[in-house]
Amino acid sequence: MVDNRIYLFDTTLRDGEQSPGVSLNADEKLEIAQQLSRLGVDIIEAGFPIASPGDFTAVKKIAEQVRGPVIAGLCRAVRTDIDRTWEALKDAESPRIHTFLATSDIHLKHKLQKNREEALQQAVDAVKHAKKYCSDVEFSAEDAFRSDMEFLVQVVEQVIDAGATVVNLPDTVGYAIPEEYGDFIKTIVTRVPNIDRAIIGVHCHDDLGLAVANSLAGIANGARQVECAVNGIGERAGNAALEEIIMALYTRNSFFKKQIKVDYSEIYRTSRLVSSLTGMQVQANKAIVGKNAFIHESGIHQDGVLKERSTYEIMSPELIGIYRSNLVLGKHSGRHAFKEQLAQLGYNLSDDELAKAFISFKEIADKKKEITNDDLEALVKDQVMGIPERFTLTYLHISSGTSIVPTATVKLTIDDMSFEAAATGDGPVDAACHAVDKITDIYGKMHEYKLHAVSGGKDALGEVISRIEINGKQYNGRGLSTDIIEASVKSYINAINKYYFEQKNHTDN
Ligand code: KIV
Ligand code: ZN
Repeated sequence: MVDNRIYLFDTTLRDGEQSPGVSLNADEKLEIAQQLSRLGVDIIEAGFPIASPGDFTAVKKIAEQVRGPVIAGLCRAVRTDIDRTWEALKDAESPRIHTFLATSDIHLKHKLQKNREEALQQAVDAVKHAKKYCSDVEFSAEDAFRSDMEFLVQVVEQVIDAGATVVNLPDTVGYAIPEEYGDFIKTIVTRVPNIDRAIIGVHCHDDLGLAVANSLAGIANGARQVECAVNGIGERAGNAALEEIIMALYTRNSFFKKQIKVDYSEIYRTSRLVSSLTGMQVQANKAIVGKNAFIHESGIHQDGVLKERSTYEIMSPELIGIYRSNLVLGKHSGRHAFKEQLAQLGYNLSDDELAKAFISFKEIADKKKEITNDDLEALVKDQVMGIPERFTLTYLHISSGTSIVPTATVKLTIDDMSFEAAATGDGPVDAACHAVDKITDIYGKMHEYKLHAVSGGKDALGEVISRIEINGKQYNGRGLSTDIIEASVKSYINAINKYYFEQKNHTDN
């Protein structure tokens, strides 16, 4: 029987986190890993443990707490890296050591200053060393696509002999064209004599916008593991987008004839979670998870869809967890309707979470006539993904205009006590942040600030995602309100809370 199962290897937390400007703390990574496990990916690459103590902690936490998928940790083909990776992974239910070494002449000559023989030996030694710890070992030939084929065939054969169970052949710089990449995988599959003892993986970057197409070409030609990241995030232009790979294999099953095992209804929520925690917004026209992906604008299309959906829709939004509902909540809606609507959106909150979310809902409903599903999702994210709050905004007064110095008065609650400060600044947000600094004695520097309206209308909820540097490290903050200044200050305080709890965890441990 032909084994047509394709294994989904998610690298959002490793390659994805290498996206410029993205930095996730250990709890945020754990949150994403738990969601990836609900989605049902086969392998989660949790990080690169030797890269930093923060990365090590995150991989360790995920290995200890996330059950279901294989948990992989990346390491260079160097003993100390491999040892450290194993240290982080050893409590995983199903651990995998993922070691890599470049094989292209460009990398060997300019980056590693090694000849092919030395590189081959190093790759084999690394796999053998990893194998002492773990039966599941993946070897990646970095820049495989630009490597000499004769040499690559030799490397693949020998790392399999050394015990590699998966051999990954990345297009590291996103240079390949689908047909070429497909042929490249086919050549490896046909020329490596012991190929039946390992799974071939594909890992494509999106520099030419071809990462998904190349990955699919690899799958069509014998690859059985596909490495990808949620929303296509990753180094430079990113990795192949997980949701696009999944939906291409599902929707075009008659073409690919491959099987994957995922809970499709978790796709959209996974995308939203990653976008919100990384602060990387998804472009509106992004396939599968973009805001417009299932919206029909032209009259002809709308007419067609109303008559028969399949005229213009090749996938159903409900399948991936996007629910359209006619029920609009407002300030008179009760707890029951609120709970029902959340359940329809796929959120089953605990009683405590529901009680807290309901209070926020009522506060927002007082200011905003209609609460849409987008509003509800934004609101509920605070309850489901919220970190504990040491500093809570309880009062904000702004005085600002064309010819006065912006001034803010802020009150924060800290451990049930109220503290107040006033400050001026270059603008109202700046003034309020200075006032927050005075109270908390924590001084943040805003590096990035993004404001978007969660839903339409003048009374739309504003969501602010900011990136704040505190003591040399960056933290993402998120704030939600119908008042954009308040949303901005909440976002700033959210980042400060993250910083505070990270420091506290370090001192407590
Ligand atoms: O792009 C790449 O080659 C990689 C490897 C380390 C797997 O990310
Ligand atoms: Zn990569």
